Parts: sequence; structure tokens; C-alpha cells
Amino acid sequence: MPCTVVAGGFWGDEGKGKIISYLALKEPLDLCIRTGSVNAAHTIWHGGKRYALHMVPGGFVQQKCRLLVGPGTNIHVAKFLEEVDETGVKNRIGVDSQASIIEEKHSVQDKSSAHLKGLGTTGWGVGPAIEEHVRRTAKLAKDTPELKPYLTDVPEEANNAIAKGRNVLLEGTQGIMLSLFYGTYPFVTGRDTSASAICSEAGVGPKRIDDVLIVFKAFMTRVGTGPLPGEISKEEAQKRGWFEIAAGTGRERRSAPFNFEVAKKAVMINGATQAAITKLDCVYPECKGIRKFDHLSREAKHFIDEIEKQTGIPAMLIGTGPEALDIIDRRK
Ligand code: IMP
Ligand code: MG
Repeated sequence: MPCTVVAGGFWGDEGKGKIISYLALKEPLDLCIRTGSVNAAHTIWHGGKRYALHMVPGGFVQQKCRLLVGPGTNIHVAKFLEEVDETGVKNRIGVDSQASIIEEKHSVQDKSSAHLKGLGTTGWGVGPAIEEHVRRTAKLAKDTPELKPYLTDVPEEANNAIAKGRNVLLEGTQGIMLSLFYGTYPFVTGRDTSASAICSEAGVGPKRIDDVLIVFKAFMTRVGTGPLPGEISKEEAQKRGWFEIAAGTGRERRSAPFNFEVAKKAVMINGATQAAITKLDCVYPECKGIRKFDHLSREAKHFIDEIEKQTGIPAMLIGTGPEALDIIDRRK
């Protein structure tokens, strides 16, 4: 803080939602800006309830936090309204007038294209919506009556808040290995997912950013097709406690051990200044619920040290359980 970008270091599902909700409560956060689109589900445990948010920023857990959806996003209107209701944030959320709209027809196109199906897309229609945006025939938020009460100028609000030294968080989606530019093309999503793209989608220039926080999970997962280095079988994943089902689509995730080469590349492209490591307790069960670094097992400490050594950045936040506060916070 004051202005932090949160980006995914692998193939999405690193636990960005949990980290964002922790920061929102802890800092406390003044402004949280969601980028990306409805294909990403950010899982947040709050007050004993589980949320899988596709549109509303994860900072909603902080009652005083203003929530924004940036101009570079594709807004799924029905999902947005449903989540605004579910989270009760109607009077503190805004949508940029220029954000483009993802329509039902885009989802139909996504699901009926053999090519896109072969890539294992989520079926939300994000690729076709981006195609339409680029063709310059897309509907924008300002053309959508249901969004009228929410319309705002997100770059203006964001840059004003930053100028006043407020705590601002830019919430990225997916991970660098699903980036259209830097990922495992063609098995990628329809947008760049790097920290630079997150800034761009929110309308914040690179010089305004204080920290790029990259989120890694203690093991790697991916949904859909495409390469996953070191992939293990479903049976092995179940045995290790790494088997996951996607929050957004209900699909089974593939898994693999933490890969230092991928992590190094992710840190480089994102210009990451610090890392968060989630689900340490899934790899080292004895670490569950621990909130002090010194209380970790020797093996777990060694793993974190190795990540820091190889990537060259400090691991400031370490997740040891699902609740927002199940975290080791090593920041001053
Ligand atoms: P699309 O983004 O729906 O076009 O899907 C393209 C690829 O990105 C597929 O492999 C999806 O499974 C993957 N993908 C998209 N969004 C997410 C996400 O939020 N988490 C993990 N994978 C995702
Ligand atoms: Mg997810």
C-alpha cells in the first residue's frame, strides 16, 4: 500500500481472493478496483460464508471500501447485479461508463465454437466479447439502462484516491501463464493478465504503483487444456490433498508441484516486488492455522526461503488456511 496491484503468478486460482480480502480488512482498504471479466471467480470466506465473486471486487469485505469495476473489463450485467445484491454493496460500487458488456450471445458463441471448446474455455463468452470490443461494435456500460445508477469515471476516482495517499488495490484475474501475450498460447484467456494490463484496465499509470504483489499457490493447478509442467495424476493429487474443483465452473483442476522456473518468469514479467504464498497447509499439513513464521516446520520454512532465493523477492504473506485471517503477515 498505498497503491498495490495483485496479480496471479501461475494459471489462476492461486487464491488472490483470499489475499485481497485479508488486505482489505487489514490495511484497511479505501478503494478496490476489479479488472478482467466474469470468467474469473474469486473465492472469499467472510463471516463464515463462502463467496465466489465474478464481478464484485474482493475488497467488499471491508465495509468502508469503495468498489469499482474498471474501463478495461467486460461486464456481465446479470451477474454483476446478482452479486451486488448478494454482497449488499449497492451504495458503494461503481462501474466505468466505458466498460464493455459481455452478452448472452457471446457465451453461446464460446460454447458452440469447437476451437474454443478445444481450449477448454470457461464458456462465459469472454473471448467472443473481446472480439466484439475490438471490432468496435460492443455495447458499453453507458448504453445499459440497468447500470445507470452505478456509472462513474474509474480512472478519475482511482487517480484522485492515489493522489490523496489512500490505500488502493487493483485486483487482477487469472495468472500470467493464462496471459494472451505471455502464457501457454493458444491455451490462454482472451486478455493479457500481467500487472501492466491490470493497471491499464483500471486506468492507472505504472508510475503510480507502489507494489506489485504476486500470488503463488504452494502447488500449481490449471483448468482446461494446455501444458502443466510436472503434472501429477488425479489419484496422486487426492492423496496429497491438492485436488481442487473450480469455484467458477465446477470443473476438476489439474495439479503439479510448485515450479521455480515458472515463478521466476512470473516475477520478471509482472515486475513483482513481493509475493504471497497461499495454501502452504496443503503441502505442509502441520502448518495449518499458524500465524507466525517462526512456528512453521523446518521443511515449510525451507520451502519459503527457496522461493525467496530463486525469485529474488520477499514472501510477505503466507496462507495457512481458508479464512481471510489464516495468514502469516511478515510486513512491518
Ligand atoms: P476463457 O478465459 O473462458 O476464454 O478460457 C481460456 C482458458 O483460461 C481456459 O483454460 C480456462 O480454463 C482458463 N481460465 C479462464 N478464467 C480462469 C480463471 O479464473 N481461473 C483459472 N482458469 C481460468
Ligand atoms: Mg478462481
